[in-house]
Amino acid sequence: MPTVAIVSQKGGSGKTTLALHLATCAAYGDMQTCVIDLDPQATAAAWGDWRGDFLPKIVTCPPVRLHSTIQKTQREGTGLVVIDTPPHGDTAAREAVRAADLVLIPTRARAFDLHALEATAELVSYAGKPAFVLLNGVPPRATRIVAETGAFAEGLGLKLSPVTFGERAAFHRSSRAGEVASEVDPQGKAAAEVDALWQWARGQLGIEGSA
Ligand SMILES: Nc1ncnc2c1ncn2[C@@H]1O[C@H](COP(=O)(O)OP(=O)(O)O)[C@@H](O)[C@H]1O
Ligand SMILES: [Mg+2]
Repeated sequence: MPTVAIVSQKGGSGKTTLALHLATCAAYGDMQTCVIDLDPQATAAAWGDWRGDFLPKIVTCPPVRLHSTIQKTQREGTGLVVIDTPPHGDTAAREAVRAADLVLIPTRARAFDLHALEATAELVSYAGKPAFVLLNGVPPRATRIVAETGAFAEGLGLKLSPVTFGERAAFHRSSRAGEVASEVDPQGKAAAEVDALWQWARGQLGIEGSA
């Protein structure tokens, strides 16, 4: 079953936001999608509580239960798993990467975030999984920052995802309400960025058809 791990050793880089938006976009595209929340803070699960019974499904589990939890969701008909992970959670991140077909590493283009990227790169390089840095919260007209960060990521043996997320109020506003950007601002840039990311990711995962 196609499985995406969202990892980054840095808190606030946008892991949970990315996991929930990607999973919800896939669910709107008729994929039965499950978010597995490995973060003890359970932010994704809290978002699911605020949201109520809408898709996607969200479950929490400790890292040692990840494999069996994935198997259980698969038996229940899940077609796509997105794993959200805590920062500083080496075991969680390692288990998530091991389970994944695609690893996404959201990163803000700032010095300390790039420093944290080194630790994350080390972690994913062992697993030999396709891993892409997704630049998050990119300010307008930041072409130079994007180019520099891309070069830095490549120096660490990582690739840069072709899609970046801008600094967009819709990401923040929607998450607080148990929603996603496309639900609060369907025509907005955040919604378009998420859609572009899902179209690209489904290609990486070999998922047929177009949403
Ligand atoms: N592209 C973005 N634009 C605006 N706010 C964002 C963006 N990505 C994340 N945020 C906000 O940044 C904060 C941290 O994001 P979060 O997804 O919780 O990070 P992590 O899970 O890596 O700790 C949240 O308040 C979230 O709403
Ligand atoms: Mg989080």
